[in-house]
Amino acid sequence: MSKPVLHTVLCDMLNIEYPVLLAGMGPTVGGGVGGVAGADLVAAVSNAGGLGVLGAAGFPPDRLEEQISQIQDLTDRPFGVDILVPSNTAQRPPKSESPKDPRDLLPPEQQQAMDSIREGLALPEARAPRADIRLPRFTPQDQVDTIVSMKVPVLATGLGNPAPFSEQVHEAGGVVISLVGNVKNARRVADGGADIVVAQGHDAGGHTGRIGTMALLPQVLDAVSVPVVAAGGIADGRGIAAALAMGCVGVWCGTVFIPTKEANLDDFRKQRILDASEEDTRVTRVYSGKTMRNVTNELIEAWEDSGSRALPMGLQGLLVADVMESAKQAGREDLLMNAAGQISGLLHEIRPAGEVLEGMVAEAAEILHRRLPAAVTAEPGS
Ligand SMILES: Cc1cc2nc3c(=O)[nH]c(=O)nc-3n(C[C@H](O)[C@H](O)[C@H](O)COP(=O)(O)O)c2cc1C
Repeated sequence: MSKPVLHTVLCDMLNIEYPVLLAGMGPTVGGGVGGVAGADLVAAVSNAGGLGVLGAAGFPPDRLEEQISQIQDLTDRPFGVDILVPSNTAQRPPKSESPKDPRDLLPPEQQQAMDSIREGLALPEARAPRADIRLPRFTPQDQVDTIVSMKVPVLATGLGNPAPFSEQVHEAGGVVISLVGNVKNARRVADGGADIVVAQGHDAGGHTGRIGTMALLPQVLDAVSVPVVAAGGIADGRGIAAALAMGCVGVWCGTVFIPTKEANLDDFRKQRILDASEEDTRVTRVYSGKTMRNVTNELIEAWEDSGSRALPMGLQGLLVADVMESAKQAGREDLLMNAAGQISGLLHEIRPAGEVLEGMVAEAAEILHRRLPAAVTAEPGS
């Protein structure tokens, strides 16, 4: 069978065959080493003709270097690295002000609130290993220096403005992609040098905004002059075709690539996504301090129902770390972070990532070339 053809300006900008980008899915709390979109998944998507993007949020430069080298061993095709550059992340305080135990940075009333949620869930008291409760020693600039020095062709930024790094990436011949969830931030990142804006709707897994994908896309398309890529709830050829029909140049997909052989996540959490219906995810601040869509669970429900106020990113992770350890000790893996989108209900089996991508592309090409004209009768008026 001949390969489908699906080509947009995005393919030319990124030197890829199909306008499908793997979302740079980062580490999950308690998810083991590395991001969900690790080297194997990145290489699989790039080798299949899309753009694999490494989820490198929170990676210190040495870990980043190691992962980039692994990808370079697995593929000759272009790929990207995604980092988070939020404006209000808690950074490690200067050494002179650093408490011995980072937990001392947490307000006691929030610690008490989290403790009573833990008790309500009948979880044992536990202390997270020291490695899980460290604030970063490095800055996004350190990560960008590594990415640029290793000649990665694409920098993707979630949660924030790429402005401080755009010139450096462009001078090295790279492309900057930035994720946004509303029109204001789309304008801001385009002004900050993003070459491509990913408009990510509320439907999406992981950190997400308040506007649904269908409402967000046309408004972002009208607001910026750079190409726009659609994200949030896209997991098959129908989603790709709809995004292209809107005027987007491609899609950025996360959830659909989690139940794959190559995704760096344990089988238990992949299965929870396969078991989830469209109703089974909920947006919560409990894990990171920012609004994040997860397969819901009793911890999320208890936190959200308690009306507790989340701490800034970084500190909230510290606050929840001990409860994550309690959940692990109690065999309650269902309480761990398991970011996934509303489209989870469409996913039914674990497949190789290349097969997922090929299936999506083939279906989109079919719709755009044949099925749409057959199903719709329309002529432009004069
Ligand atoms: C498990 C998971 C982890 C994620 N981590 C990140 C991240 O570290 N950085 C980022 O920019 N986006 C992250 N996202 C959001 C994705 O980039 C993407 O926008 C989203 O998955 C698209 O919606 P979909 O899940 O419906 O395909 C994550 C999403 C998921 C599901």
